[in-house]
Amino acid sequence: MKAIQYKHSIRPYTSFNIEATTEEFVVVETLSELKDSLRNYEPEKIRLLGGGSNMLWTTDFPGRTLHVNLKGITLLEENDKSALIEVKAGENWHDFVLWSLDQNLGGIENLALIPGNVGSAPIQNIGAYGVELKNVMTQCTILWRDSLEEETLTTEECQLSYRNSIFKNEYKNKTVITSVQFKLHKSPHQLKTSYGAIEEELKGKEKTIQEVAQAVIRIRSSKLPDPAKIGNCGSFFKNPILSQKQFDLLKEKHPTIPHFSAKTGVKVPAAWLIDQLGYKGIRRGDAGVHPKQALVLVNYGNARGKEIWDLAVEIQKAVEDQFGIPLEAEVTCY
Ligand code: EPU
Repeated sequence: MKAIQYKHSIRPYTSFNIEATTEEFVVVETLSELKDSLRNYEPEKIRLLGGGSNMLWTTDFPGRTLHVNLKGITLLEENDKSALIEVKAGENWHDFVLWSLDQNLGGIENLALIPGNVGSAPIQNIGAYGVELKNVMTQCTILWRDSLEEETLTTEECQLSYRNSIFKNEYKNKTVITSVQFKLHKSPHQLKTSYGAIEEELKGKEKTIQEVAQAVIRIRSSKLPDPAKIGNCGSFFKNPILSQKQFDLLKEKHPTIPHFSAKTGVKVPAAWLIDQLGYKGIRRGDAGVHPKQALVLVNYGNARGKEIWDLAVEIQKAVEDQFGIPLEAEVTCY
């Protein structure tokens, strides 16, 4: 069994940079260490920590936190057109994107600069600028927390949808994702530049996956705060999906509301709703709403998790009162 650290601060491991402690903290670097740490411990008193970029701790945790730090990127097979790559859960997502660009393998360039680790990517089906994880993932390997058996799940079995998966529902708190497999493409690449801002950024540039990644990095850096400087977890809420009828009613009252068609209805930007209510840039102590992106809650220094959460609840209530739309948190809150 790996050394246990007691009453350990998780602050340096989370991008919100909020002070909170865990009764026990264990860093696991191999599958056998992971199994040892799960064995003989009450399952409901175990919390997993990957890159820490999508979680808000509002209280100290009286249990065991496992920092999953399994490493490795392996080329499994390749042909003229594509390559199958297995990436262990503890690899940093953006480092993997940079690796793929070095190998000239396409498919994840639009997902550059997303914080967090590869093992958490399927949980919320990470996505940005017209690409989602489900477009490139082929399968993942999980470890069942109770039986300690390994199993491989296809992407379909993971039920990936907009910021959602089986790991947020039926399998919640039951498994650990240990690796993810991807099919990436060789040149000639099919670039996905339909997202307006990317098209704009690419003007006069070469049409390569490396340039697309650079464009995404420039766009993200211009409006999303760098977690190394200002604590945050990216978008705090999901963009709500309304029925056509709900949307038509809303559009009558707010003709300028931006919207996007989604499989199950009409998606409206939560950022726009929050922005309309004047929350962009507001600050309550060290908790605030980012001045350039209304969907991002920030910790300016020493905010407590509870203060961020109180602000989130206040915003949810204001949006519901004004627009009749419930906002769902995208960040996992404890
Ligand atoms: N908008 C405002 N005010 C703002 C910001 C945006 O009115 O302060 C409006 C604008 O009309 C804009 C629209 O909202 O056109 C959408 O904004 P943006 O393109 O910034 O995207 P988003 O919907 O806020 C989503 C993802 C991001 C992802 C971007 C780009 C969710 C919850 N968020 O944000 O993902 O990077 O699209 O694809 O789906 C994340 O999940 O942490 C994340 C950053």
